[in-house]
Amino acid sequence: MIALSLAEIADITGGRPHDIPDPSVQVTGPVVYDSREVAPGSLFAAFVGERVDGHDYAERAVSAGAVAVLATRPVGVPAVVVPDVVAALGALARAVVTRLGTDVVALTGSAGKTSTKDLIAQVLQHHAPTVWTPGNLNNEIGLPITTLRVTEETQHLVLEMGARGIGHIRYLTGLTPPRIGLVLNVGTAHIGEFGGREQIAQAKGELVEALPAEAEGGVAVLNADDLLVRGMAARTKARTVLFGEADDAEIRATEVRMTDSGQPSFTLHTPTGCSDVTLRLYGEHHVSNALAAAAVAHVLGMSAQEIATALSGAGTLSRWRMEVTERADGVTIVNDAYNANPESMRAALRALAAMGGAGRANGGRTWAVLGPMAELGDDALAEHDAVGRLVVRLNVSKLVAVGGREASWLQLGAYNEGSWGEESVLVSDAQAAVDLLRSELRPGDVVLVKASRSAGLERVAQALLDSTVEGEVADR
Ligand SMILES: Nc1ncnc2c1ncn2[C@@H]1O[C@H](COP(=O)(O)OP(=O)(O)OP(=O)(O)O)[C@@H](O)[C@H]1O
Ligand SMILES: [Mg+2]
Repeated sequence: MIALSLAEIADITGGRPHDIPDPSVQVTGPVVYDSREVAPGSLFAAFVGERVDGHDYAERAVSAGAVAVLATRPVGVPAVVVPDVVAALGALARAVVTRLGTDVVALTGSAGKTSTKDLIAQVLQHHAPTVWTPGNLNNEIGLPITTLRVTEETQHLVLEMGARGIGHIRYLTGLTPPRIGLVLNVGTAHIGEFGGREQIAQAKGELVEALPAEAEGGVAVLNADDLLVRGMAARTKARTVLFGEADDAEIRATEVRMTDSGQPSFTLHTPTGCSDVTLRLYGEHHVSNALAAAAVAHVLGMSAQEIATALSGAGTLSRWRMEVTERADGVTIVNDAYNANPESMRAALRALAAMGGAGRANGGRTWAVLGPMAELGDDALAEHDAVGRLVVRLNVSKLVAVGGREASWLQLGAYNEGSWGEESVLVSDAQAAVDLLRSELRPGDVVLVKASRSAGLERVAQALLDSTVEGEVADR
């Protein structure tokens, strides 16, 4: 981060210096909350969690090179003591972007934030030094921690903003006021907590409300194909740039196709021209994500050709999102176990169907290993049933539904849609799924593994990848 003295940090956060012999000493390293990640010059933020209290690690952090601790009580080593560490981090982030005048791109939406943020970051990197949210650190802690990585060289700061309720995005935009705000979609993720799609739209739209007016450079980048997102144009003073398939979208894709391996290709149109793109990512849903990234890059002055080249070279930066690995024996594992909601389930299943298309001629089968989608409230039964039915409609060869009640709804949906005998099965847990798959998989098969985070199905994907190692050892 930019160098800040402990005196400045105390001043910005309204904190009291404790055990600080020299307040002019500067923090120059990253801000971290895990003492194992301390680097020389770090500031260590002590949080009180459910199981661990960061204050207990203060001494360890300082011996590992942290200059001081941001804490809520004295800890016997140099500390700035504040009433609330989250608020203090927010104040620091705000002070840093204000001081540097950092140009902030913020994005939100129900599905695809992390994937799109990673695309934007990779495209903008071609243009100028960029800092972006690592992984999924999109809340009131992750956002300031990311922001505090910026330096004088940083031209673009790309921030994923997550929301679980009204007011969350407003809080985040208050810390790092964006000039460019992108809304991807309004789906049903966390709908149980929000209470409905209108409420989700209300919460996500706080992003465009926070943008500066058009005359001051504010730009709202909106998905033309999502009516609730498109409607947000009325809630902003910023200029609106639409992306999507709609005719009036400034940033569009034509000739969308899927390669045999399930990667989308299309012609990108921007006001500067058109250029062909083939993504390295899997699944047609990434066309929309790529258009969103292209729209942001266009607003920042990149040509259609530059954007197309950067998009075609962009890979996955965050784990367990359509992570495709081909085993030595020709079985392909698609680990999309990071999370699941109805939209992302549908997108992943369509990608699976496309990926299985090529293998099917050689007897390869497609397997959907699916677990529960959490936080769906009253819609849970209907949504699981619909996903189960979609598996059959897409002609996916096998459904393995993993877990309890929700899995039985998935399986029943498939059954009612016309799956036969062993085509859809219900297993009790991850281990049972692994046991079944280990005995059944054969070369040419493609296996999608997906569920909500809480189900931990990445263990299934991992075990299936490990099992080839076992297999190879046994074969020798
Ligand atoms: N445009 C999209 N439409 C539907 N599903 C998508 C889209 N983009 C990505 N997905 C799927 O959604 C899931 C989550 O993707 P990603 O992590 O990018 O979203 P996110 O919005 O960051 O999620 P979170 O709310 O957990 O931060 C993945 O399974 C991915 O394949
Ligand atoms: Mg995310």
